[in-house]
Amino acid sequence: METSKSGSSSFPATASITYADKTVTYPVITGTEGERGIDISRLRSDTGLITVDQGYGNTGSCQSAITYIDGDQGILRYRGIPIEEFAGNPDFIEVAWLLIFGRLPTSTESTRFRARLTANAHLHEAMKHTFEGFPASAPPMAIMSAMINTLGCFHPEMYLIKDEEIFEEAAARLISKIRTIAAFTYRRVNGLPYIYPNPKLRYCDNLLHMMFSMPYDQRVADPEISLAMNLIFILHADHEQNCSTSTVRMVGSSKANLFASCAAGVCALWGPLHGGANVEVLEMLGQIHQGGLTAEKYIEMAKQKGSGTRLMGFGHRVYKNYDPRAKMLQSVCEKVLKKLNLRDPLLDIARKLEELALKDQYFIERKLYPNVDFYSGLIMRAIGIPTNMFTVMFAIGRLPGWVAHWKEQHDDANSKIARPRQIYTGPVNKHYVPMDSR
Ligand code: SDX
Repeated sequence: METSKSGSSSFPATASITYADKTVTYPVITGTEGERGIDISRLRSDTGLITVDQGYGNTGSCQSAITYIDGDQGILRYRGIPIEEFAGNPDFIEVAWLLIFGRLPTSTESTRFRARLTANAHLHEAMKHTFEGFPASAPPMAIMSAMINTLGCFHPEMYLIKDEEIFEEAAARLISKIRTIAAFTYRRVNGLPYIYPNPKLRYCDNLLHMMFSMPYDQRVADPEISLAMNLIFILHADHEQNCSTSTVRMVGSSKANLFASCAAGVCALWGPLHGGANVEVLEMLGQIHQGGLTAEKYIEMAKQKGSGTRLMGFGHRVYKNYDPRAKMLQSVCEKVLKKLNLRDPLLDIARKLEELALKDQYFIERKLYPNVDFYSGLIMRAIGIPTNMFTVMFAIGRLPGWVAHWKEQHDDANSKIARPRQIYTGPVNKHYVPMDSR
């Protein structure tokens, strides 16, 4: 792992904080892309002070070599490679290996990893009964997080990752089986028979087969659709310290196992402000399409403070420019609709919303642009994936990123259990009052 430098030629190598009659000086860490951060690990012991940063918008939790984002320029790179370079021949499994192991796989490694994925595509038969325990109305993300933890129960030997061999096997099992869990979840909530994985099919084709085939009728994915799914998963694969990945690192920091950490990541991703936004985008577009609301009206509502309405799929904590993934997904959306010979009125509405927002001062001043969720749902809808499965698809894509970050932290001899501090604002000097005196 390339290590960060302390300071850099044009910036000071230290920063000082003066409080009351004391000044303390701390090292400034500079990353390989020039990002700088003050190492305040001694702040509390030196001054008794802590920093407070609601939502951690200005706080780095770690140093990482996996993904680089430049939010102002709209840049996203996986292990230094711009995401645009994966569009030519999108191969999700190859990118998963790159994120997890830090380099593109050799042909031998690629063959070995794919063989592990094929060998691990099935679920233990007993897990089918667990699916049956959920009501058909269960939210798919609830089932997915529960079933990833259940998966761990069938692979306790993977709880303790002692070496790279066990890790590679555990990563393959999770990446392969999350896809089967997603398909079986879809079948369960729709009352359909489970379709087993076909060892002859590649990753995305097998997912679509297990979701949409019937025992008497195998679904064969169109190669273009399969490439689109690969690219969708690649574009969701990692995004540095986002809410769900930070959750995986937080849980993993207590030395919780990989399955438990990723199950927690699924729960964080579920939120409508995070991975659940792709569902909210489709609901927003559907609301406008059903009439009574125009794109212009909706934009005005989204600008009203306290209206509780947001332009879903717009805005980002880090990107203050166009999310590069949104641009790529917009072109995938056009291609898929053309390939399937579909016209989707919701796409026309999305385009109208984007056109209006990009020239509206409210959005311009706040640097609100389309993010990864703005177009992804339209593509999945065209492929026949129902809205309640959109965030499940996001989780399949994001899993290699979670595994990569979990490994990076697990392999770091200096990593500690995450334990943020707080400023207490509750009652002071209270005493217990017995019931008969209350
Ligand atoms: C993902 O972190 C990641 O990397 C996440 C992700 C990943 O790959 O893991 O990229 C995936 O989660 C993408 C984001 C998906 N969420 C949405 O699309 C939901 C809609 N967007 C927002 O709610 C919002 O933009 C956030 C949550 C994404 C970011 O919010 P911030 O940076 O905390 O900004 P904020 O809530 O402090 O808002 C700043 C201002 C406010 O107005 P003022 O108080 O200044 O008047 O911008 C406004 C907000 O009201 N604003 C919006 C808006 N987003 C922010 N107004 C209308 N519509 C929006 N979408």
